[in-house]
Amino acid sequence: MPSGTKSLHFLLSALLTAISAAVLGFAMSTNWSKTTMDCRGIGTNNGSAAITMGLFDGLLVRDSCPSFGSQSKFLVFTELSRITKTPMILHGLCVCLLALCLLCSVLSILISFYNSVSNPYETFMGPIGVYVCSSASACLSLLVLIIFVLNITVTTMAEELVPSIETIVSVVLRNKTSQMQVGYFLVIPYMVLSLGAVLLIYLYEHTAYTHRREQERPTEDAPKEIMMY
Ligand SMILES: *[C@@H]1O[C@H](CO)[C@@H](O)[C@H](O)[C@H]1NC(C)=O
Ligand SMILES: *[C@@H]1O[C@H](CO)[C@@H](O)[C@H](O)[C@H]1NC(C)=O
Repeated sequence: MPSGTKSLHFLLSALLTAISAAVLGFAMSTNWSKTTMDCRGIGTNNGSAAITMGLFDGLLVRDSCPSFGSQSKFLVFTELSRITKTPMILHGLCVCLLALCLLCSVLSILISFYNSVSNPYETFMGPIGVYVCSSASACLSLLVLIIFVLNITVTTMAEELVPSIETIVSVVLRNKTSQMQVGYFLVIPYMVLSLGAVLLIYLYEHTAYTHRREQERPTEDAPKEIMMY
């Protein structure tokens, strides 16, 4: 097996995984969702409330809800700890899973990088290590995509957060609509890049296997040739 092929595949795998980790790191620092609700106070006013959330901080914008408008920044975990527990558990789960994703990516980078510079005829936790780590990254991030969107749409997180953050009572929040933001969508390229690393190492294994077969064939044919003479 030419060592160049092995180095190249593992180096590219390390590179793809490093890009994916950078993408996920950026994703975790930006906005993930925006939820808008109609807000009715005691009077007959038609107000609205909008919550933009990242993983760790958010912004609540109220317009005539219940009477004036205002903007307030909030810390997501602090505010979630003041309402029913399900949203906080789901949100915490998302953050933990994303941390695990990053950890798996780092392991995958280390394994890939080590193999790209190590002995060309051996791999250290080689293909299997990358398969396990990068597939785990992809699966866990898919789980995050599902859990996060469920938390936003199925639970009453936003409806509970608005009165809790502003300590306002007697508002009725209705017609919730949610949009996922860039942070959420960036998890998809992360997942694709992680699977790309798996594919690269699979291709390496496949070419290694074909190469070995080609080298074995002459020895299989040799006895026949000897017998012919
Ligand atoms: C996040 O959303 C808020 C409110 O909509 C906005 O002001 C802010 O610029 C957004 N941040 C990023 C990084 O897009
Ligand atoms: C509230 O909205 C409804 C329907 O859009 C409208 O008929 C009503 O006049 C509005 N009320 C106020 C106080 O703006």
